[in-house]
Amino acid sequence: MSVQLNCSYLDSFISADDCKALDPEIRKAHDFLYSNKAAAKGNDFHGWLTLPFDYDKEEFSRIQSCAAKIRSDSDILVVIGIGGSYLGARAVLEFVKSKNYNLVRDKNDPQIFFVGNSISPAELSQVLSLCRQKDFSVNVISKSGTTTEPAIAFRLFRQLLVEKYGAEEAAKRIYATTDRAKGTLHDLSLREGYEMFVVPDNVGGRYSVLTAVGLLPIAAAGIDIASLMAGAAASAEKYADPDWQKNDCYRYAAIRNILYRKGKMVEMMVSYEPDYQMMNEWFKQLFGESEGKENKGIFPASAIYSTDLHSLGQYVQEGSRLLFETVVVFDKSKNDITIAEDPENLDGLNFLAGKTMSYVNQKAFEGTVLAHTDGGVPNIILRLPEMSAYCAGELIYFLEKACAISGYILGVNPFNQPGVEMYKKNMFALLGKPGYEDLSDELAKRLHHQS
Ligand code: PA5
Repeated sequence: MSVQLNCSYLDSFISADDCKALDPEIRKAHDFLYSNKAAAKGNDFHGWLTLPFDYDKEEFSRIQSCAAKIRSDSDILVVIGIGGSYLGARAVLEFVKSKNYNLVRDKNDPQIFFVGNSISPAELSQVLSLCRQKDFSVNVISKSGTTTEPAIAFRLFRQLLVEKYGAEEAAKRIYATTDRAKGTLHDLSLREGYEMFVVPDNVGGRYSVLTAVGLLPIAAAGIDIASLMAGAAASAEKYADPDWQKNDCYRYAAIRNILYRKGKMVEMMVSYEPDYQMMNEWFKQLFGESEGKENKGIFPASAIYSTDLHSLGQYVQEGSRLLFETVVVFDKSKNDITIAEDPENLDGLNFLAGKTMSYVNQKAFEGTVLAHTDGGVPNIILRLPEMSAYCAGELIYFLEKACAISGYILGVNPFNQPGVEMYKKNMFALLGKPGYEDLSDELAKRLHHQS
């Protein structure tokens, strides 16, 4: 089992020499992660690299017991977080279980709602109202402990918990995942006696799914987090070789950069499984925040096929030639359906009788990859055995490492996100947050001028 990279559809787009020419840059990127850390930008955020082996075992078993408690005393788990503080957990939940998890879950699994990842009062009201009628717990996740969206949601759900259960029981239903030593959420949790989990200092938000950030919600959904970590550990071992010819993860990172230098500015991650949709969202944050800086970076986009072949397919086939696709395929579908013979054949589908839907899906993939490469869209294929916890771990580590190597090849710091702060400053100023008075006046004038 492992992530298999298939480059056979790239022959008309890149050559072996293109990869060889990048060899020194790939080795330098590898050295930044291992032997020449001091020279590497963002080297204080390399903790994810060894996480599958050196994670906190005591905390891991506490996560498992808290997940068991949530499963026994709660109909609903509300997961509050934004960006890296929710995408990974939701991605794994839907990848392993279902995008319809809340509808098709086993009877012992709690419903899980992800909130605090927007400022929509409509969305929050719906989940608040569901929680009024059921027993629920809250996992609030914020590394900084100060992010506005989850902070607002947490205030509302905390108030509801206290109203429903009283202060003492409410505190037992709140699980806080945050910085080890500082921040508003850290201080509040300590004061109120919430069960606390740590986002390690050296692991950035978008690389944090294999810490308590992702593990508690994933375990609460009944997913085997030991298997998830074992998959990640297998990838960590497999993709450690500095030689890109023996390392598919590095080869993928290199190919992305080669295509980018040839004018392919957009990577569309594609899957033929709707349960992959949130993994796409996680991928977009990981690569978008890691590479999109200094006026550089491949724009990460995504699609679910064949669904989006009926919306984006025309553009991919014949629009501006700035795309490449990375298609993630699975050997085995979670379930299968065989199409039955119909004696009347009024729908003309008897040519598919006896075939499985996964066979039809496979043919859709094969037909599309040929059509798109004929249309000038390079296709990279990543193949995995199945959509299990183990494979999720393998894929997550593969993509995290590819992202770090790719970012270093690109010449940026793959571990910061300075651009995310700009909108926050403006929003705080416009909301009248203390300390932002000067900016507030300036923005008010600009907005007035524009209206
Ligand atoms: O990758 C990142 O660091 C960010 O996108 C964060 O995940 C996001 O802003 C949430 O931050 P926090 O966990 O501090 O609330």
